[in-house]
Amino acid sequence: MSTKKDYFAIGQITDLHVGRKIPFPSGEIDLYDRLVEAVNHLNSIDPPLDMAVVTGDLANHGKKEDYIRVKKELDRLKFPYFLVTGNHDHRVTLTEVFSDHPYLRTGNDFIQYTIEDKPIRIIALDTLEPGTHHGLLCDKRLSWLDEKLQEQKKRPTLIFMHHPPFDTGMPYPDNLGMNGKEEFGAVIRKHPQVEAIASGHTHREAVLGWNGTVAYITPSSAFSYGLEFHDVDDIDPLLEPAACRVFRWDQEVGLVSHISYIGNYEYGITEGVPEPPKN
Ligand SMILES: [Fe+2]
Ligand SMILES: [Fe+2]
Repeated sequence: MSTKKDYFAIGQITDLHVGRKIPFPSGEIDLYDRLVEAVNHLNSIDPPLDMAVVTGDLANHGKKEDYIRVKKELDRLKFPYFLVTGNHDHRVTLTEVFSDHPYLRTGNDFIQYTIEDKPIRIIALDTLEPGTHHGLLCDKRLSWLDEKLQEQKKRPTLIFMHHPPFDTGMPYPDNLGMNGKEEFGAVIRKHPQVEAIASGHTHREAVLGWNGTVAYITPSSAFSYGLEFHDVDDIDPLLEPAACRVFRWDQEVGLVSHISYIGNYEYGITEGVPEPPKN
C-alpha cells in the first residue's frame, strides 16, 4: 500500500560498526548482518522514505574492505543516502570507497556539506578528530557552519552529526563526548531556523531541548548500551531492539521525529476501538 504523500521523510541510521562481531550468551552477532536488516527495514517503510542519512561509525576499524561491504548494502536503498563521519571512520578511505558521492570531496580538511534541493535544508557536520574517540567542532568547522546558516536565515534546517552536542548524564558515553559544545551552542542560538540536530555515537536514545532547538541522539541500528547512570570503567553491549529514526517534515506541522524498531514484531488482533468509559 503506497499513497502519494505531501510530506518529506528522512531516515537516519547510525553506528553500524561493520567489521565487528559481538559474542552474546545466545550466540555471536556479526554487525554486518544487522546492517542488512537495517537496509531491509528502511526499504520496507511505506510510503517510501525520500532519503536517508547515515551518521557515522560505518566501519568499526575504518578499513577499506569493511567500507566496501557497507557500500554494497547501502546501495540497495531505494532512495538517495548521505554519509556523515564518526570517530571510528577514516575520511580518506571513506571518500575513496564512496567515490560516487561527490559531496564527500569538499576540498578542505573536513567532510561538511549542505543539501539544498530538498523541502528542508540539510547540513552535515564532521566531528571526527583522528586518533581519539572524542569529537570536536573546532573554530574552522564552526565558522563554516555559521556562514552557511547565515546564508539562508529563513530556511528550516536540519543538522546531522555523529557526536551529540549535549551530555546525557551517563558518564561512560559523556566521557567520550564532543569538545566545543558551548561554542557550537553559541552558533545554534543565533540561528532559530535550525529545527533539530540529529546525532548518534551514544548507542542509546536521548533527546534534549537545546539552545533553541531540539537535539536528538538516535539509537544504533547495530547494538545498544544500557541505561547506565553510574560512572563505570567499561560498558557491555546490550541486545535491545535495533532502531532507526524517521523525520517527517511537513510545512504545516513542522518536523516530527519517530523511532522505528528494526526486526520482526507481531501485530496483535484488534477488536476495534472500545467505547470510552462513561462517568
Ligand atoms: Fe558507535
Ligand atoms: Fe561513535
